[in-house]
Amino acid sequence: MPALIPIKKSHIRYYNKFPLYYISKNGEALLYKKADKKLDKELLERNQYPQFFIQKEDEVAVVEKLQGVLNIKLASTISSKGLHAIKKTLCEIVEEALSGPLENTLASLPETIEILFYGAKKKSDLLEALITIKNKSSKIVEHSVNVLALTAQYCFFKKYPEEQIKTFCLCALLHDVGTSKIDKKIIETKEKLTDKEYSIYKMHTIKGCREVGLYPTFDKSVGITALEHHERLDGSGYPHGTKQISFEAQLIGLIDSYEALKYQDKTFRKALEPYDALQIIKKDVVAGKYNKAIFIDLCSCLIK
Ligand SMILES: [Fe+2]
Ligand SMILES: [Fe+2]
Repeated sequence: MPALIPIKKSHIRYYNKFPLYYISKNGEALLYKKADKKLDKELLERNQYPQFFIQKEDEVAVVEKLQGVLNIKLASTISSKGLHAIKKTLCEIVEEALSGPLENTLASLPETIEILFYGAKKKSDLLEALITIKNKSSKIVEHSVNVLALTAQYCFFKKYPEEQIKTFCLCALLHDVGTSKIDKKIIETKEKLTDKEYSIYKMHTIKGCREVGLYPTFDKSVGITALEHHERLDGSGYPHGTKQISFEAQLIGLIDSYEALKYQDKTFRKALEPYDALQIIKKDVVAGKYNKAIFIDLCSCLIK
């Protein structure tokens, strides 16, 4: 019997191409349907079916197929549905991308960015909605979408060329991709991390850069941003304590910090109002940690 992994009930309609398994009453894994055989329509409508599983070896192909379908859904949601539905679909896409074995699961994200880019041009309130509408997704999915939307807002505000905006958006969406290789408890906690947990957490920069490096079609800046977004201009950052930081990593590092202060409740402090979050970052700008020009532009962009 192959190694099996459970599938999400909400995704059941996407599995026609793949064999599905279920666990019998006596704990035996049995084949429910062969590849390319459709699931019974009535069964789907009644929502009465057991927990299904796919073979572990199908996981990457499943995620690729699912992301393709989700991108089509995102495009049609943007043209016909409300902002809540758009946020929900985008979070689903990001969740799939960050939850798989990463070998191929990021490949469709540039297309996601492309769809969002044109969506933001059509719906002027789209980016603001992506940040403000809450969705029941994991902290890291919500955070990645927020950083993406804030970065896109900044780029549109600065009137960057189209290709540059898309690249920066992909950098933003994937800046924390390395966290998917780190213990979920450390990533999702609202408590202050212990020293040991913090040193594990810091590794998401190096792990993220490595993962993104597996995609030769991605712009180099995507991996560099994953690596450098916690570096600071005074050398106080990590993982290497370098003062030489790419522009993308400086920008997304600053937006990343702002997002964390503004949107994330912790047990030791509440999420802050924009002005208070910017005040805290301003102190770090004065201390030489962040790029002053980027900070001023971000303030102008947020209070425009
Ligand atoms: Fe990070
Ligand atoms: Fe982050």
